[in-house]
Amino acid sequence: MNIQKIRKDTPGTNHIKHFNNAGCSLAVQSQIDIITNYLQEEAIVGGYLMQAKHQNEINQFYQRAAQLINAKPDEIAITGNASEAFNHVLYGIPFEKGEVIITSEIEYSNNFVNYINLKNTKGIEIEMIRNLPNGDFDLEALKKAIHPKVKLIAITHVPTSSGVVAPVKAIGEIAKAHNILYLVDSCQSIGQLPFDVEEIGCDFASATGRKYLRGPRGLGFLYVRNSALSQLVPKSLDNVTAHWKLDEKVDLDIKTKMFEHWEKSYAMVLGFSEAIRYLLDLGIENTWNRIVELSSYAREQLNSIPEVTVHDPGTNKCGIVTFNKKDVDPLTIQKYLMEKKINTSATLPFSSMTDLHHRGLENGAVRASIHYFNTREEIDALVEAIKEA
Ligand SMILES: Cc1ncc(COP(=O)(O)O)c(C=O)c1O
Repeated sequence: MNIQKIRKDTPGTNHIKHFNNAGCSLAVQSQIDIITNYLQEEAIVGGYLMQAKHQNEINQFYQRAAQLINAKPDEIAITGNASEAFNHVLYGIPFEKGEVIITSEIEYSNNFVNYINLKNTKGIEIEMIRNLPNGDFDLEALKKAIHPKVKLIAITHVPTSSGVVAPVKAIGEIAKAHNILYLVDSCQSIGQLPFDVEEIGCDFASATGRKYLRGPRGLGFLYVRNSALSQLVPKSLDNVTAHWKLDEKVDLDIKTKMFEHWEKSYAMVLGFSEAIRYLLDLGIENTWNRIVELSSYAREQLNSIPEVTVHDPGTNKCGIVTFNKKDVDPLTIQKYLMEKKINTSATLPFSSMTDLHHRGLENGAVRASIHYFNTREEIDALVEAIKEA
């Protein structure tokens, strides 16, 4: 990969050392140009004419998103973010009292509060599989937890709070063997690492635009396998797929797009599409290899500082690097780094309660989430700053 060109394409890299890609990444210039040109023209011709003129390009979004995850274009719906996509599935499954959601301990807050909400409103049960002592997902515990009441396995692929990567393919094999619906929170993984819905065997996946996909804020997407559509009942309808007939009748097209609203920012959809095109052109295997190399380097360097503990558990790790410096609060470190134009974040219990609690990180940790456009020199600067902090 031509890193110089990639950084030239990414204007933000001139201003900041950006290690907050698990929060919100930096956009490529071509995406910004597409969005601003669209908005300029839209201001002249009006939104509806503009949309009609660009409909073919807008439709390309579905092809590109599908290509990235080895799905079919009609298995993709555009959503406002990953949580919305995830909830379309959670609230679309007609759970009966006593049915069970099996989940992991690395769930994001928005996932878990909705499991709890379903427990309180519908009487479902939550079964959380505890990780093995080394932080890996416990596949044997999952096998033991399967019983006829289990309706859904909902698993976070990569958490907000560490660099561990869950074995989603092995979990998919277990789900399939028992004919259980399978939802993957791929908010931090799609765009970061190769994600193939056929290989993983998931029925549903949720993604967001602004993180590792480097797209605009306010967009995400939902994947629903065509063969799993009949398992979902949408909680609200939109005339994209719901056709109003006389005599209080509705004809509903049963397709993934039934979770999509007609009204959205088409400028941003084109920007999101461009972000995915850029990634497809670079090749996800290439970008992923670089993320693995850079993040291993970062862990190695941080580990060499005596007062620093790198926290990422598990066997398979990704670009999210979490650590603490002895006796210093992670938010203090994050602010200190920001003064040096090094953008990291602090991962805190509000977003990943069970994971951080079980890892004994009640105060959270500093999080440096690395992307392929980062460099070893930037990591060296981060490490030097941590030594001084
Ligand atoms: C693992 C994980 N899942 C889901 C979400 C929610 O994504 P969004 O804010 O796009 O709804 C996040 C956000 O940080 C996340 O880290």
